[in-house]
Amino acid sequence: MDSKIWYNGEIKDYDKVKVPLLTHSLQYGSGVFEGIRAYETEKGAAIFRLREHVERFVNSARIYRMDLKHSADEISRAIVDVVKINGLKSCYIRPFAFFSSDAIGLSTTGKETGVCVVAVPFGQYFGDKAQKGVRCKISSWRRINSDILPILAKASGNYLNSVIASNEAEAAGFDEAILLSKNGYLAEGPGENIFLVKDGKLITPGLEADILFGITRFSLLELAESLGIEVQERQIHRDELFTCDEAFFCGTAAEVTPIVNVDGIKVGSGNVGEVTKKIQKTFSDAVRGKLPEFRDWLTYVS
Ligand SMILES: Cc1ncc(COP(=O)(O)O)c(C=O)c1O
Repeated sequence: MDSKIWYNGEIKDYDKVKVPLLTHSLQYGSGVFEGIRAYETEKGAAIFRLREHVERFVNSARIYRMDLKHSADEISRAIVDVVKINGLKSCYIRPFAFFSSDAIGLSTTGKETGVCVVAVPFGQYFGDKAQKGVRCKISSWRRINSDILPILAKASGNYLNSVIASNEAEAAGFDEAILLSKNGYLAEGPGENIFLVKDGKLITPGLEADILFGITRFSLLELAESLGIEVQERQIHRDELFTCDEAFFCGTAAEVTPIVNVDGIKVGSGNVGEVTKKIQKTFSDAVRGKLPEFRDWLTYVS
């Protein structure tokens, strides 16, 4: 890939950075990462909720006793620099920290860390289904829970749970999986939080469902408030997916993606609903700097 990246404090060519095959994080999934988008605005590229993403990244590293050796400010600056240096108008940004020592042992004590920031052009995660809506399967795999692994850390290893659920859904002919929590309540998608719409109100699972506390989710709660839409954060029974009026995923990659069918049953009318459309449009305008009240979500690159 012909791209400049930031690696341990320096700008380098993507192709020139080498890590040993036996890195702890490659063998054991012990990396932590972020997914951030930058959007094209009339004042150039703008990074969505940079502070919140870097804060989550630093906290993920802290949970895994990983010494990032760079402050949140330095990492934020690196993210801005990588977008700028690659001349990207809009992109997906991947900060990633990992144990880079090549050793077999499980303990990470004393292991070196590598920290990088990579940015790549990126379109709609679900392609044209971002508008038409996705068909989902409730996974036979449960969402990992905080008795087992810290769910607030955006750690590489957690994503095996997402990968196995996605693979199962795709193999069965669906676009995406929906995972239930250990108690059988609605949790989230493999890489997205979930909202239902019922009688004009939004309903979304809370932390007790062991969800990743998504930054898009949190932003939509603010946005809904500004639109005067009531939101309930509560445990959601699986069958509410079949009795709600609308449903949608949200996340950095997925943005706001309608869910039109679950396990072969239409969600509401089976078409993209009006509340979803309104949230999707408002979010899209906000991240592109068109709504002054949400401009503090954006960090302009130049
Ligand atoms: C498991 C999971 N849930 C939810 C989300 C949405 O989080 P965010 O809006 O911070 O991207 C993501 C994406 O990072 C995710 O991987």
